[in-house]
Amino acid sequence: MDYAAIRHDGLARIAAAPDLASVEQLRIALLGKHGSISALLKTLGAMTPEQRQGEGPQIHGLREAVTVALAERKAALEEAALDARLAAETVDLTLPAPETPRGTVHPVSQVMDELAEIFADMGFAVATGPEIEDDWHNFTALNMPETHPARAMHDTFYFPDQGPHGGQMLLRTHTSPVQIRTMLSQGAPLRIIAPGRVYRSDSDATHTPMFHQIEGLVIDKGIHLGHLKWTLETFLRAFFERDDIVLRLRPSYFPFTEPSVEVDTGYAMEGGRRVVGGSGDDPGHGWMELLGSGMVNPHVLRAGGLDSDEWQGFAFGVGVDRLAMLKYGMNDLRAFFDGDVRWLAHYGFSALDVPTLSAGVGAPAA
Ligand code: DAH
Repeated sequence: MDYAAIRHDGLARIAAAPDLASVEQLRIALLGKHGSISALLKTLGAMTPEQRQGEGPQIHGLREAVTVALAERKAALEEAALDARLAAETVDLTLPAPETPRGTVHPVSQVMDELAEIFADMGFAVATGPEIEDDWHNFTALNMPETHPARAMHDTFYFPDQGPHGGQMLLRTHTSPVQIRTMLSQGAPLRIIAPGRVYRSDSDATHTPMFHQIEGLVIDKGIHLGHLKWTLETFLRAFFERDDIVLRLRPSYFPFTEPSVEVDTGYAMEGGRRVVGGSGDDPGHGWMELLGSGMVNPHVLRAGGLDSDEWQGFAFGVGVDRLAMLKYGMNDLRAFFDGDVRWLAHYGFSALDVPTLSAGVGAPAA
């Protein structure tokens, strides 16, 4: 076998690859599962030990050379693409400022304002808590003691510092600690929402290390699941501005609620995207999970300083970014936080589009 010729030919083809797609095609053709060099590697198995001693290093050397050449070509093409982009996207700072202001309100801010408006109408106040939280408020007080397996699902960012109740300081993984803080500072009865940033070590098209949640908490006497369902239905009908929102409550588990329910909503596919509305059991419809909720666990009420024989409550937590994507039709969460002015100009809102119930919480995009 003329390995030198194969190498020469392979390297020449890699050097001539005009773009990233052809580099990838070559990688598959040479090193992929059915690639030509992979096939050569497989011939080693059938060789005598002497043959293998002679051929083995040559075939491995060939694979190594091709692997390195592919990586180098890929890096060079990526750099060239970046250079071209930087050259094409220069901003001329000497140009005069535009006559009309260009800034827009981020869809996440807009949706948080919409939510505050909807819940204010139902008598909810807005509560806040720190993003740098301690272990006790984020976990222990929410019925997740140190050994609780649910902690592992939170992919927590920890600080080296110790917190006030023992355990490390951390970036809050959900808005639920605001439940504890508000019960402790305000007592009962309570009716609050807590919107804000939360953090988890996770990143793909639908997860970013920082994202937004809104927490709801109602504490009063004689509160039951019916109040929860009515509140969520009323909120979602106002938010999506349609009356045919159908919810399905599924039994679930959260340490801080008992019983716990996961809430699904019916949707249909329209123009390649999910549009909330109708029953998930209707023809052409499906159910999708929207949020977690339940009746506040008595352990949590007691951690919040309340008498759990006297008070009951319900709570819910929902992803704000996800609500924004569903309502306004974006499909990649990462773009939310890139700060690309073209995206912001397209999806952002005019500062004058203040959401109000009378004018419609879903003001059109600017
Ligand atoms: N904290 C939960 C999470 O981030 C969401 C959640 C579920 C909040 C149920 C709640 C609740 O208040 O009752 O995954």
